[in-house]
Amino acid sequence: MSEKVVIQGPGPLAGTISIPGDKSITHRALIFSAIAEGESRLLNILPSEDCLSTLRILQNLGVEIERAGDETRLLGRGFYGLDEPKDVLDVGNSGTALRVLPAVLAAQAGVSVITGDSSIRKRPVDRIIEPIALMGGKLWAREGGRLPPLTIVGGQLKGTEYRLPVASAQVKTAVILAGILAEGESTVIEPVRSRDHTEIMLNYLGAAISIEEQAEGRRIIVQGRQQFSGREIVVPGDFSSAAFFLAAGALSGASEITVQNSGLNPTRTGFIEVLERMGAGVKIADQAEFGGERSGSVTALKSTLRSLEIGGDIIPRIIDELPLVALLATQADGQTVVKDAAELRVKETDRISLVARELKKMGARITGTPDGFLIDGPTPLFGADVDSHGDHRLAMMLAVAATVATGETTINNPDAVDVSFPGFFKCLQSLGAELVSIAG
Ligand code: S3P
Repeated sequence: MSEKVVIQGPGPLAGTISIPGDKSITHRALIFSAIAEGESRLLNILPSEDCLSTLRILQNLGVEIERAGDETRLLGRGFYGLDEPKDVLDVGNSGTALRVLPAVLAAQAGVSVITGDSSIRKRPVDRIIEPIALMGGKLWAREGGRLPPLTIVGGQLKGTEYRLPVASAQVKTAVILAGILAEGESTVIEPVRSRDHTEIMLNYLGAAISIEEQAEGRRIIVQGRQQFSGREIVVPGDFSSAAFFLAAGALSGASEITVQNSGLNPTRTGFIEVLERMGAGVKIADQAEFGGERSGSVTALKSTLRSLEIGGDIIPRIIDELPLVALLATQADGQTVVKDAAELRVKETDRISLVARELKKMGARITGTPDGFLIDGPTPLFGADVDSHGDHRLAMMLAVAATVATGETTINNPDAVDVSFPGFFKCLQSLGAELVSIAG
């Protein structure tokens, strides 16, 4: 563990890398396999802190999990077969575990308490309590039901129809899972489309789920209590991890940067559209598909960037990459406007305030707005003393910024990268970044 990483810039990067498995898909593969009937074989799950929190919680609920190299075998307990936990369940820093596991626990016998680190204890859970309570679930949380710890008293759920008030794949997943475990039919209406790994994986596993596209949005309809069986699941690389290197390629590539085996689910790749709109060259090759999830290799080329305005429906498809859009915009010609992204304020940190605060230290002309950013460019960045504030995506964005900045950048709390991308700094170094000290 290191307290800081020092990067000497500017250091043009180039080369080809592979990235670890997708975080969202790994959480789903673990949780869905735990309630499936029989054995599942999971390949290339992401062994990061967030996913290991989910894995350990499932073990505390009695699920047998064996890991050997790239392969994880998991013996499902069926829909209602999880044990009552003997202790408080700790999701660490994982928002996905915090929002998705309660849906499963609400339908099991017994009482569970879920908590997590200091960042998790500031993240809203009323967004899942409301729909699960409508289904008969018994859930309580601190501050009038808003914040963790969360207490769940398991029981029987009944189907409902629920229109998502926020475009959140975590909330969507919680309602779909509660619906699968409930009696009768449930419908989730999604006005703005968010990542659809849950729908894809449940369909692959043979769960009773169907989708209708309508003017009011996407209707996801699930039939309750239709047990499904475990299967082999191959997890593609995480596009959100690939994005850091694609940004590096567009900003500082000595020639180009290629990321192999990246997930390419279209509900995740809004960042490719943004790179292209900003004028960056992007190439996709070696496309493949497993279980409905697309993957391939993506190359980004150093380019002259122009500013853009983004907001509306693309935001959920680029939500985790918006700190990188802010960084790209510092090097783009003109004013970039990011709007409709107030959700950034309730991520691992308030990413609107902290992205602006940390990039400003490096010379960026950036202002946080209630729901996004205003960024003027191009602006030369220079080395500074910056902080991840324990946020993995902030740590990685600042590391990429350091490779385009002139001079030495010190990144405090760099180990946050372990939440989604253990080995991130080594990967950056393998592309030519000059790291004076290294973590992760
Ligand atoms: C995730 C959904 C998104 C995303 C998070 C992972 C998921 O969160 O930011 O990193 O796995 O479903 P929201 O559902 O809060 O938008």
